[in-house]
Amino acid sequence: MGVIKLINDNSDIKELTKIFNESFSDYVYPLSVTESSLTQKIQGDSVSLEYSIGLFSEDTNQLEGFILHGIDNLEKPKRLYNSATGVIPNARGKSVERCYNTMIPYFIEKGIESIILEVVTTNERASKVYERCGFKIISTINSYKGLINKDSLKPYLFKNCEDQVDSGGSMKIKKLDSINDEVIEFLSPKNKNYPMMIPTWSNSIKAITKEFDLGFNKCWIVTSKINNDKEVIVGFLSVNDQTFRIRQLFVSPDYRNQNIATNLIHTMALEFNENTTFNFGIDSKFDNTINFFTKRLGFVYLLSVYEKLLNLKKE
Ligand SMILES: CC(C)(COP(=O)(O)OP(=O)(O)OC[C@H]1O[C@@H](n2cnc3c(N)ncnc32)[C@H](O)[C@@H]1OP(=O)(O)O)[C@@H](O)C(=O)NCCC(=O)NCCS
Repeated sequence: MGVIKLINDNSDIKELTKIFNESFSDYVYPLSVTESSLTQKIQGDSVSLEYSIGLFSEDTNQLEGFILHGIDNLEKPKRLYNSATGVIPNARGKSVERCYNTMIPYFIEKGIESIILEVVTTNERASKVYERCGFKIISTINSYKGLINKDSLKPYLFKNCEDQVDSGGSMKIKKLDSINDEVIEFLSPKNKNYPMMIPTWSNSIKAITKEFDLGFNKCWIVTSKINNDKEVIVGFLSVNDQTFRIRQLFVSPDYRNQNIATNLIHTMALEFNENTTFNFGIDSKFDNTINFFTKRLGFVYLLSVYEKLLNLKKE
């Protein structure tokens, strides 16, 4: 049946990489990691091995399965993010259910109130397992992918990256060398009177900042001068430069339809090889964003994931 315990220092990145690849050998699409890419995922998702579950062989004590959990706060985490789950084929059979049933009382005791995850919609096996554990769908995210044809974007570009706009201000694109409070405030949905797409865990500003500080994320902002005086942020783009996942693309509603997103995308593309295939996930409720990626950029549909939540807090 296997022994279930926290991973802590019971495993290392070499073993985790091996078990990850064995577990994902029959996944819904080809997926493999290297020690380096798995380390980046672990760091970007704030995975804590003190909150991650390992399934170990009773006979050999070797790792046979894992649930890696990111934490939302170092001191007092309240939410866990299931960053990756896998069990090698020989050890399967209600293993995820057993892992969660065994460890959830411990997580509740530690103050954890919820666990969130994403599962590819066509991964019926995993979806079924999570449903049995009590996870409920909270949103559907569609991913799109494509090359960026810089020539086709030329008609929409700001002149000299500084273009007069109707508001009387001027637009500037800047590559960030740090993610400061002004950027964080710009992306915060708090006190905003318009709907904002709530990014999934790996695309949150917290994860972006982590990736950025570790050197595998690039960010740009567009600023505009208001009253010919103060410069304010009106657009933001972030991309993971290893996976080419566009983490966030956001333009203030007051500044939409002025090609700000196009200019951000074009500036980003200048830093990558022309054969780079980028991808981006969009909450299915945000039609405008879907139209931008499919119509303006020509991206095509890749796959969808369900975001699922398990509430551990007693109502
Ligand atoms: C997902 C995974 C961890 C589940 O392992 P497990 O908890 O031991 O799951 P089980 O083997 O008990 O299978 C769960 C259920 O799915 C069913 N199932 C198996 N293959 C299936 C398939 N191709 N389609 C639909 N259901 C399937 C099983 O019959 C079982 O249901 P049942 O108990 O009603 O018979 C494991 O399959 C795995 O590592 N898969 C590859 C990586 C992956 O998909 N990870 C999740 C990413 S979100």
